[in-house]
Amino acid sequence: MPVEKTLVILKPDAVSRGLVGEIITRFEKAGLKIVAMKMVRATPEQMERFYPSSEDWYRSAGSKLLKAYQEIGVDPRLRIGTDDPAEAGRLIKGRLVKYMTSGPIVVLVLKGNRAVEVVRKLVGPTSPHAAPPGTIRGDYSIDSPDLAAEEDRVVYNLVHASDSPAEAEREIKFWFREEEILD
Ligand code: PPS
Repeated sequence: MPVEKTLVILKPDAVSRGLVGEIITRFEKAGLKIVAMKMVRATPEQMERFYPSSEDWYRSAGSKLLKAYQEIGVDPRLRIGTDDPAEAGRLIKGRLVKYMTSGPIVVLVLKGNRAVEVVRKLVGPTSPHAAPPGTIRGDYSIDSPDLAAEEDRVVYNLVHASDSPAEAEREIKFWFREEEILD
């Protein structure tokens, strides 16, 4: 059976809105086990290292931002001074770092059958306004790229979850020492 571990971060908006218990309950009720957990006030340097600095990551995150701007009829060149995906990705990373260091976060490792895929399904898509009811982002937030664009910030979407087993391994090692994982 493909039992996996995955990394979840409850972002500053989840903590400040008092949603930590509710969100963790969802994961536990789905059958996932908590094998490590801590509350952290991350530094900008930590978050800079946590999010990849690869061209691929920049291009992927940047393309999503450009697509979101296109959907709401905003010219990215006027809004952020570029329509280049990699450059837009660098901007997203800077804003993500600011968001993720704006307050305490809760970092946890969940274990279970196909945990990486199952957790991403429970969390839902990036933009809460488009996330279906029943997902964490869909049920607890209505934030959207147009609101975020007005305030020059990223979408506040409550939760981060590893997007592949390989990323999960890297992300778990980033936050936890081996002996902190009570497996
Ligand atoms: S995810 O996890 O699928 O929602 O992430 P992803 O879509 O790959 O996006 C990469 C991270 O950037 C955050 N973010 C945005 N990306 C692109 N465009 C916009 N407008 C945007 N707003 C936020 C997104 O939440 C991802 O961060 P993490 O911490 O991985 O969730």
